Amino acid sequence: MTDRIDLFRTRVPGLAFGGDYNPEQWPREVWSDDHRLMKEAGVNLVSVGIFSWAMVEPEPGRFDFGWFDEVMDGLAAAGVSACLATMTASPPPWMAELHPETLPMRADGTRLWPGGRQQYCPSSPVYRRYAARLVEQIGRRYRDHPALALWHIGNEYGVHVSTCYCDTSTEAFRSWLQHRYGTLDALNDAWSTTFWSQRYGDWQQILPPRIAPTFPNPAQQIDFLRFSSDELLACYRMERDTLREIAPHVPATTNLLGVWKPVDFFSWASELDIVSHDSYPDPADPNSHIEAAFGYDLMRSLRQGQPWLVMEQAPSAVNWRQRNSPKPPGVMRLWSWQAIAQGADSVLFFQWRQSRGGAEKYHSGMVPHGGEHTRTFQEIRDLGSELARVPSLAGTRVTAEVAVVMDWSSWWGLELDSHPSSGLRQMDANLAHYAPLFGAGVTTDVVHPTADLSGYRLVVVPNLYMADEAAARNLVEYVRAGGHLLMSFFSGIVDECDRVHLGGYPAPFRELLGLHVEEFWPLPEAGEVGIRLGDRAGAGSMWSEKIILESAQRVGEFTSGDLAGEPAITRHRFGDGVAWYLGTRPDPSTMRALVHQVLVASGVEPVLPGRPDGVQAVVRRAPDGREFLILLNHTSDSVELDLPVPMTDELTAGGAFADTVTLAPRRVAVLRRA
Ligand code: GAL
Repeated sequence: MTDRIDLFRTRVPGLAFGGDYNPEQWPREVWSDDHRLMKEAGVNLVSVGIFSWAMVEPEPGRFDFGWFDEVMDGLAAAGVSACLATMTASPPPWMAELHPETLPMRADGTRLWPGGRQQYCPSSPVYRRYAARLVEQIGRRYRDHPALALWHIGNEYGVHVSTCYCDTSTEAFRSWLQHRYGTLDALNDAWSTTFWSQRYGDWQQILPPRIAPTFPNPAQQIDFLRFSSDELLACYRMERDTLREIAPHVPATTNLLGVWKPVDFFSWASELDIVSHDSYPDPADPNSHIEAAFGYDLMRSLRQGQPWLVMEQAPSAVNWRQRNSPKPPGVMRLWSWQAIAQGADSVLFFQWRQSRGGAEKYHSGMVPHGGEHTRTFQEIRDLGSELARVPSLAGTRVTAEVAVVMDWSSWWGLELDSHPSSGLRQMDANLAHYAPLFGAGVTTDVVHPTADLSGYRLVVVPNLYMADEAAARNLVEYVRAGGHLLMSFFSGIVDECDRVHLGGYPAPFRELLGLHVEEFWPLPEAGEVGIRLGDRAGAGSMWSEKIILESAQRVGEFTSGDLAGEPAITRHRFGDGVAWYLGTRPDPSTMRALVHQVLVASGVEPVLPGRPDGVQAVVRRAPDGREFLILLNHTSDSVELDLPVPMTDELTAGGAFADTVTLAPRRVAVLRRA
């Protein structure tokens, strides 16, 4: 079977370079200037039409595609491919006027009005009907257009409106629940409705978790989040299916925003022909490239290593933070190459030309307000020509020996109210575990708990609060078969309905870990507790707990507080493998020491041994065995690196091979062995 990403490659061989292109914001004379500058910058792919609905359908049912034909023809003539949007991300104002019931509603009953964007209820049959009609028009009109390379369905589903509590959504939620549970008895059981007199006697009594006097039912909340992600996915699928029928030769994607809590990326991944991602690390945060790296590893893992697209990143500053720092010289290039290193086949930006009006006029563009003689445009042009020098990187793959486990339902459950600590945040836990792996220079996938784990030497479980039977079995069997696993506290606590697994926390992993937890002992907000790992003293934060060892061995302990002298970190041989457990969140340096120990024990090697801190090294491999070693210097110091074999820098060396490489601050090398 053809991998549908191949259909894209026939249109855009090599790495894709470009961005969101919104020519409707500009007079015609600017369009030809755009084409000239796109050529100069080496642009080969732009996303068009994302917010064009009101312009192509100015009145319901009256379509005006004439101007858009010109956009598409102009691109084709300029040799630029189109990632053509379905234009459904933001309905025109007439929809709200004619059908106010399509406007989304918050949990407190407030309607969200037009005037921004994305003001639609995802379950609205009216919205979906209008969207379907538009998508059909677009599909039929452009399916054979020479510029067309990829469908861009919607835009960042759920970025502003991920849940809707209106009556239409209520009806849809009830149907979703009927499908999930079949009977009211099953639902009552799953939602533990004997608690607080919540038992339902009729489906009509069930509501979304609207504002209630106190904590709404947690299982209801989690199901509502599952439903909401599914409703957005249904919108995507409706458009995708329409287009698949009209234009089976054109692949489809939608841009996933960051690591976005409301949208379960794992359940979406199989519906995308190509994963694409919007990445906005904060230039003012010295660690933001690590958080971005987590997202990139996740994107690559969503479709088992298939290359993915950076659909959006900022050329320099964004407009939506409290303070919007530009990317200093070299950072845009460095971060672009970072995404490529981690498996991306594109560098695309929001947006091509910086807007003159509207809410995003202070968001940087590839062509800034200041025009082509600006630092930003010069850097864009340089990057474009550089990417064109390594077309053979496209399609190569990254493999990992380590996986971090995450699961959206568990994330939703973890961050609900009335828990032992309201300080637990899934992404904090993920990054606390991911950062030391990144620091150790190993390549890491980010996978679902039921993924095939057999190829990994080490699996890290930062905080899998919710574990159903399949997830628990998969992790346990992985270790039994010889895998190494590192799990942190408050994992395996509840089932998929947020009911506690009885039999001693964390019951599904008790045998695996060789221990049980008798009592949770969360720490105050800024509180710390002393810990010792071997003979190394450190501190734990966020959490502590009373661990009762069964067959596990103590590796570290609490040295202060109520649990002084009790185990804090353990290790357990189980089957042919080893399971490590952490009952607190160690400070970063203790965490690094522990992760180092676990990596050594599990036989995981860094990609480039001896690489200094702050230098990222990733290998991309082609099916024919060719390898590219990409080195990124995230520090502000120059570094000299020894290479395992002589290599040539594809970007600078002009074919000369060397066994060392010097990287100035924020510089990049794309190395190939002889
Ligand atoms: C994205 C969005 C774009 C633009 C950009 C600004 O979230 O898809 O349309 O708004 O942010 O950073």
